[in-house]
Amino acid sequence: MTHDELFIKIERAIERDPARALEEAVQLLAAEIPIYTWVGIYLLEGDELVLGPFVGKPSPHTRIPLGRGICGAAATEKATIVVDDVNADPRYLACSIETKSEIVVPIMRGNDVHGEIDIDSDQPAAFGARDRALLEPVAALLAERLAED
Ligand code: SME
Repeated sequence: MTHDELFIKIERAIERDPARALEEAVQLLAAEIPIYTWVGIYLLEGDELVLGPFVGKPSPHTRIPLGRGICGAAATEKATIVVDDVNADPRYLACSIETKSEIVVPIMRGNDVHGEIDIDSDQPAAFGARDRALLEPVAALLAERLAED
């Protein structure tokens, strides 16, 4: 399945069952893209990112203060962060020793961060422009969905 086809599949799944939008997105991303080893969504509550639905090994980081981790940095900078080698990034909070690279995409409406999509890969430098081009529109869909609550 191409990334474009996967985006359409996620869009349709969210339309079909808006109440399960976050779960559908993480499950489809993890199922269709094998190098996405861990896929999760954090939601911003006050000044903490709280782990919501995820696929992969349980993470010790279920609540991340905005000032910490690559997750905290992406929410603070309001921008996607790609890390090719997590072990070389002093911001990195380890979730699994197998993880080599990570992408964090903020879920934003206007200038407000509502949460983020966090994806880890066991392969180094797993994330590039194609992943960004898939995940930023998925984050926009989720932002619309969260605004409806
Ligand atoms: N690696 C993240 C923490 C979350 S775990 O990867 C699931 C970070 O550095 O913020």
